[in-house]
Amino acid sequence: TGMFTYDPGFTSTASCDSGLTFIDGEEGVLLHRGYPIGQLAENSSFMEVSYLLLNGELPSKDELDTFEFTITRHTMLHDQLRQFYQGFRRDAHPMAIMCGVVGALSAFYHDSTDISDPEHRKISSHRLIAKMPTIAAMAYKYAIGQPFMQPDNRLSYTGNFLRMTFGVPAEEYEVVPAVEKALDRIFILHADHEQNASTSTVRLAGSSGANPFACIAAGIACLWGPAHGGANEAALNMLHEIGTPDKIPEYIARAKNKDDPFRLMGFGHRVYKNYDPRATVMQKTVREVFDALNVSDPVFEVALQLEEMALNDDYFVEKKLFPNVDFYSGVILSAIGFPTEMFTALFALARTVGWVAQWNEMISDPGQRIGRPRQLYTGPEKRDYVPIAQR
Ligand code: CMC
Repeated sequence: TGMFTYDPGFTSTASCDSGLTFIDGEEGVLLHRGYPIGQLAENSSFMEVSYLLLNGELPSKDELDTFEFTITRHTMLHDQLRQFYQGFRRDAHPMAIMCGVVGALSAFYHDSTDISDPEHRKISSHRLIAKMPTIAAMAYKYAIGQPFMQPDNRLSYTGNFLRMTFGVPAEEYEVVPAVEKALDRIFILHADHEQNASTSTVRLAGSSGANPFACIAAGIACLWGPAHGGANEAALNMLHEIGTPDKIPEYIARAKNKDDPFRLMGFGHRVYKNYDPRATVMQKTVREVFDALNVSDPVFEVALQLEEMALNDDYFVEKKLFPNVDFYSGVILSAIGFPTEMFTALFALARTVGWVAQWNEMISDPGQRIGRPRQLYTGPEKRDYVPIAQR
């Protein structure tokens, strides 16, 4: 009807004001609260970046200690939630379990339901950040039939997650510092990315005043898709399918063929029309992890050559398609020992920080209103009901 601006996929509509994350897609720049992602990935920790995103400034030593102590206090899950896991099939996708368990948290925390109270919002945010590693690790343990591991709060956020995932009660688990550092960095690289599909989903769900656990569950559902967070799993599966460098041209040809729905997974981005700065760090981290663990993986060579071939191909050059954050992350995660089904769950774990920070920013905005997009109606005009016998 022309009354509304039509913007399918929201390519040119700003849905909010935000002071968290800045992206310049043409230049390949990503800043959190002004700090370049490369500097944060190199020098910071996931807990520090979480504090930064939530509070706007880097913490002092004392502030960081207090923050980590607070997060640590919330790492356990309500014991009843263990039974919730038993209701899932053993072969359930971890993201299916995460949607359900995170949504169910709302039924357990009646002491923080007043979202207009900043203190309540803070407690819910801390709970979500603290419990995600426990929830994700339990999804993994459930799938492989090992006992759930309780958090050990002497360990770091990331070390704790590694132990809950790969440790067993019968043995001591030793966190490998290089692996802990690499995974922590992967978490930093996934912490926030302004108004991506899952974050917009969290904001839209939250705009109605829904509780934060339900809102984050909505974000997890959106992240699951292969065009978004599911791409890391899809990218590694694709690299395995390609298998050897001699098969690369065949897959490049398929990606270029408009009659073939196949796309290079881990390639292209709505906002970046340049190299994704997160992919640069990711590629470097692959080498560090391989060196630290003294392993290698032929798919890394496939990935490097695929990237080189694509970046020299007119199709990818013209369309400005570059590797994104998901292209190399799977190679690292699989070297650490995570099965592909867990990749998107790790993305959800890290992105929870961005989701709660964005949700808090939205709720704190005095001008906040329910999100309610309009449409261009394309259905039939008004017509009269026809009784079934006359149809
Ligand atoms: N392989 C081959 N062609 C591609 C690819 C690709 N990976 N990505 C985009 N194109 C083509 C697409 O066919 C289209 O061509 P044309 O203009 O001739 O129709 C053009 O490039 C623009 O693509 P689009 O789908 O209109 O762009 P979009 O902004 O709607 O989609 C995207 C962005 C990330 C969904 C898309 O690039 C894609 O599907 N990539 C593969 C999945 C992926 O790696 N996703 C992770 C994104 S980054 C992390 C995250 O958000 O979770």
